[in-house]
Amino acid sequence: MFLVIFGPPGSGKGTQTSKIAEAYKIPQIITGNIFRGHMKNETALGKKAKEYVNKGLLVPDEIMNAIIEEELNKPVYKKGFVLDGYPRTINQVNFFEKILRKTKIKLDCLLDLLVGDEEIIRRLTSRRTCSSCQSIFNLVFNPPKKQGICDNCGGKLIQRGDDEENVIKERLKVYKKQTEEVINYYKNKGIFYKINGQQDAEKVFKAIRQILDNL
Ligand code: AP5
Ligand code: MG
Repeated sequence: MFLVIFGPPGSGKGTQTSKIAEAYKIPQIITGNIFRGHMKNETALGKKAKEYVNKGLLVPDEIMNAIIEEELNKPVYKKGFVLDGYPRTINQVNFFEKILRKTKIKLDCLLDLLVGDEEIIRRLTSRRTCSSCQSIFNLVFNPPKKQGICDNCGGKLIQRGDDEENVIKERLKVYKKQTEEVINYYKNKGIFYKINGQQDAEKVFKAIRQILDNL
């Protein structure tokens, strides 16, 4: 199964991607996690990406496209993937379609999580992320069992550098300006499904399962 998950910042893409990956045994590709991994390790790419990520701006297309091309050529994704965070610009869409043709991958399903701006700000200002395995928590909606500690690996929970309110607002602007166009491009393709993302995470997942089980 080849899936792409869309939605504004904080709509629950990462949360649902890991549920899908676990339930359907599909490898996940999370573009934001790739950049955060490089930023943590202070690689050359990480240093470059940081200039954009922490301001809430998109990393330039040529950097993002090169990363995706390398990922999609890995044997692990030949039978399926759930992709969170790409494509986010029309230039990325064009590049993506070219790689899909080359690798003979046909997308099965595009999911779009719908959540309002106020709820997004509520969720992102209370999000905590594991600095080690990148698991996602929320102080209000999904608190860890032990304060400040990841339930899955025991790592330290941190607040993402781009989860400060002004940066969240910038990310929302960027989403509306650049990524809504991508949604408009895909929405009439017949494999595009809108999902109410503003309900309990388990209910969102149930709605996703209903779609995936009927593909
Ligand atoms: P990325 O990491 O993809 O950030 P984003 O799109 O802003 O999305 P988030 O990860 O913030 O939110 P999410 O939808 O995954 O929600 P989550 O599940 O965590 O990208 C970061 C940056 O990387 C970009 O700004 C850019 O700089 C760069 N980048 C990435 N891709 C790029 C690309 N293609 N091109 C160029 N640059 C790129 O949930 C959020 C919170 O809500 C959590 O606390 C969670 O516990 C909670 N929650 C989840 N679901 C629910 C629910 N149903 N009810 C209540 N709470 C919930
Ligand atoms: Mg995410």
